[in-house]
Amino acid sequence: MSRLKDRIALVTGSGNGIGKATAIVFAGEGAHVHLADVDGAAAEATAAAIRVAGGHATSHITDITRGQDVKALFRAIGTAHGKLDVLVNNAGLNVRADFRHLTDEEWVTIREVNLDGVVRMARDGFELLKASGRGSLINVASIMGSRAMRQLVAYSATKGAVAALTRGLAVEYAPFNIRVNTISPGFVATALTKQILRNPTITDALVAETAMRRLGEPEEIARAVLFFASDDSRYCTGSELVVDGGMSASL
Ligand SMILES: NC(=O)c1ccc[n+]([C@@H]2O[C@H](COP(=O)([O-])OP(=O)(O)OC[C@H]3O[C@@H](n4cnc5c(N)ncnc54)[C@H](O)[C@@H]3O)[C@@H](O)[C@H]2O)c1
Repeated sequence: MSRLKDRIALVTGSGNGIGKATAIVFAGEGAHVHLADVDGAAAEATAAAIRVAGGHATSHITDITRGQDVKALFRAIGTAHGKLDVLVNNAGLNVRADFRHLTDEEWVTIREVNLDGVVRMARDGFELLKASGRGSLINVASIMGSRAMRQLVAYSATKGAVAALTRGLAVEYAPFNIRVNTISPGFVATALTKQILRNPTITDALVAETAMRRLGEPEEIARAVLFFASDDSRYCTGSELVVDGGMSASL
């Protein structure tokens, strides 16, 4: 229960879903967790629940598409701790649309959060991760980064780019003792997938294509993120861990 004892961790998009579960799991393992979300009330609600349970958590209202928000976030963590041990780039969104009808605005919206935001966080967080001496940067991509599904073309493109970004950063950051890895979840019932999973025909088809015959739980993704955050993965960098109940393994 102390795999992250005295570590400083930052999780984006931690007001809801997978990020929230990750923040709670990290705090349970002894980390001081910083929760950054554009939905500040949700981030603070998670942070408050962690503190009530005896953990250490601080919330921040951060829009990762805004450069000044990201700089202010790292400045606050730098002032408080002088280092960052774990950074989880989890915040993400989806816009479902047939690609041929995708508007410029929709493309920019999805790209700014899923890709540009991750780029900004990975770049601006470098100095604090380096100061850790054993930094771990984890990017949450998706199995959709290497697969296709109708109306998820733009989403898939951003997630594939995140996986490529991870590999490049793993090489560049290794001399600074910063490991960089990707978690690629399958389908998990959260606000992000609500629209897709609202359709029982689609849900049944997705479950049928999953070897374990069920969707994932946010905590099951969080446990995999914990592996990359902790010393258990100390020889892993540039790796992608797929957590999808066997969906990609089944044909
Ligand atoms: N749910 C799934 O099935 C699934 C599958 C594969 C990958 N993922 C990925 O997991 C991550 C988390 O997804 P989730 O399902 O928990 O979604 P979610 O919608 O439940 O939570 C996403 C969180 O990100 C926050 N957020 C959105 N835009 C932001 C911004 N600009 N700045 C800061 N925070 C922002 C939201 O406020 C929200 O709290 C995403 O990157 C998503 O693409 C999810």
